[in-house]
Amino acid sequence: MLRTLNKQPISPELWHHTLDDLARHFPVDAGDDLLDLCCGNGLFAAHFAESCRSVTAVDVSDSLLERLRAMALPNVTVESADIRKLRLAPGRFSRVLVYAGIQYLSEAECVSLMRRMFDWLRPGGILFVGDIPDRELMWTFYDTPERRAAYFENCLAGEDVVGTWYGRDWLEHLALDSGFREADALSQDPKLIYSHFRFDLRCVR
Ligand SMILES: C[S@@+](CC[C@H](N)C(=O)[O-])C[C@H]1O[C@@H](n2cnc3c(N)ncnc32)[C@H](O)[C@@H]1O
Repeated sequence: MLRTLNKQPISPELWHHTLDDLARHFPVDAGDDLLDLCCGNGLFAAHFAESCRSVTAVDVSDSLLERLRAMALPNVTVESADIRKLRLAPGRFSRVLVYAGIQYLSEAECVSLMRRMFDWLRPGGILFVGDIPDRELMWTFYDTPERRAAYFENCLAGEDVVGTWYGRDWLEHLALDSGFREADALSQDPKLIYSHFRFDLRCVR
């Protein structure tokens, strides 16, 4: 099972490239307790379970969580929950990952989650928010008159197929205001499948 692009699995090489790129900014070791929010079918959770002490994987979709549950990895806890309402013990984790999930939140919901993620991390812990739709790059996604027309029609209905587009500085300021001592928006490696319209955010508590 691999990430998909246009409903087709990406190549194993591209998946490993994604993991290598992530590892540069989000190093983990055997002492880490990692929280994977919006984990989907658990691709990242299963990967990190090999090197972390524990992984807590959360998603709102029970059907997606089935694959991870079926793997029955001894150091992985699978939790079905909506991250907008999730409450966890402070300081429980040394790493928090939200990959390709933040776009499902409104700006207000993102403010709330950022503050809670800060609380869940221990001092020195790292938050990595991956694959964030970049407000500055939205026209490289809506790149034809037809796509822009569809986008504005959706606007009328208060919808966007991508979800919330974030400004890099907006997220950096939010993270710093939430207490993180470092917050850096990162351009993605051009080899990553959505690098033309997405960016990442790395924060240190
Ligand atoms: C594009 S998938 C990303 C999955 C995984 N992180 C990855 O990159 O392979 C987004 C996931 O976010 C989950 N999701 C969306 N809104 C959520 C919410 N409010 N609470 C928890 N999970 C949510 C969806 O169910 C879906 O599994």
